[in-house]
Amino acid sequence: MKFNHEIVEKNIGLLGIFTVIAISIGGLVQITPLLFQKDTTEPVDGLRPYTALELEGRDIYIREGCVGCHSQMIRPLRAETERYGHYSVAGESVWDHPFLWGSKRTGPDLARVGGRYSDKWHEVHLLDPRAVVPQSNMPAFPWLADNVLDGALTAKKMEVFRGFGVPYTQEEIDNAKKAVEGKTEMEAIIAYLQSLGHALK
Ligand code: HEC
Repeated sequence: MKFNHEIVEKNIGLLGIFTVIAISIGGLVQITPLLFQKDTTEPVDGLRPYTALELEGRDIYIREGCVGCHSQMIRPLRAETERYGHYSVAGESVWDHPFLWGSKRTGPDLARVGGRYSDKWHEVHLLDPRAVVPQSNMPAFPWLADNVLDGALTAKKMEVFRGFGVPYTQEEIDNAKKAVEGKTEMEAIIAYLQSLGHALK
C-alpha cells in the first residue's frame, strides 16, 4: 500500500511525533561524532590553564558584562582572520567553563588580544577608553583599580575547575590565595586579557 502523506500532514499529533524523530536523528548524526573527535575535545598544543590571577580576572570580565559587547570567537572568514588573526578552534576553549565566545560585537573580538597592547595601555583604556580611542563608546571601569582581591575563594574555584578536567596541580591550588591576595581587580583583568589567544597565535 502507498504511504499516505496526507494522514501525517492532517494529524497534528502524528506530525509532531515524526518531526521530533526526524530532528533527533539529525541532531544525533551531527553532534555524536563531535563528542569523539579529538580536535574538539582535547586541548591544542601549548594550551595552559589560567593562572590564579587570570582566573580571577576572567570572573571580573564575566561580572562586568564585557561578554555583552565583545566576542571571543574568530570565524574562519577572510575579513575576520585578516583583522584578528587565526580563527578560533575548539581545542582552545576546552578548559573554559563557561566559554565566553559571545554573540555580540559592539567592540572588537578579543580572542587574540593578548600581547597586542601593553598592560599600561589596558589600564588607561579601562579607566577611560576615550583617553586612547577618542571615538570609543566603551564604558569606563574605574572601580577596577580600587577593588582589591582577598583570594578567599580562588583555591576553591580552581578545585571546582579541576573537577571539570582542568589540570591544576595541588601546588597551584595551595598557592592560589597568595598569588592573588592584595592585587587589584585591574591587575587581574589585565592578566586575563593578556592571556587570551596565547596557545594559537
Ligand atoms: C558597551 C559595550 C562595551 C562594553 C560593555 C565593553 N566594551 Fe570593550 N570595547 C567596546 C568598543 C566599542 C571598543 C572599540 C573602541 C575602543 O578601543 O575603546 C572596545 C575595545 C576594547 C578593547 C580593545 C580591543 C582592540 O583590539 O583594540 C579591549 C581590550 C576591551 N574593549 C576590553 C573590555 C573589557 C575588559 C570590558 C569589561 C570590563 C569591556 N571591554 C566592556 C565596547 C565595550
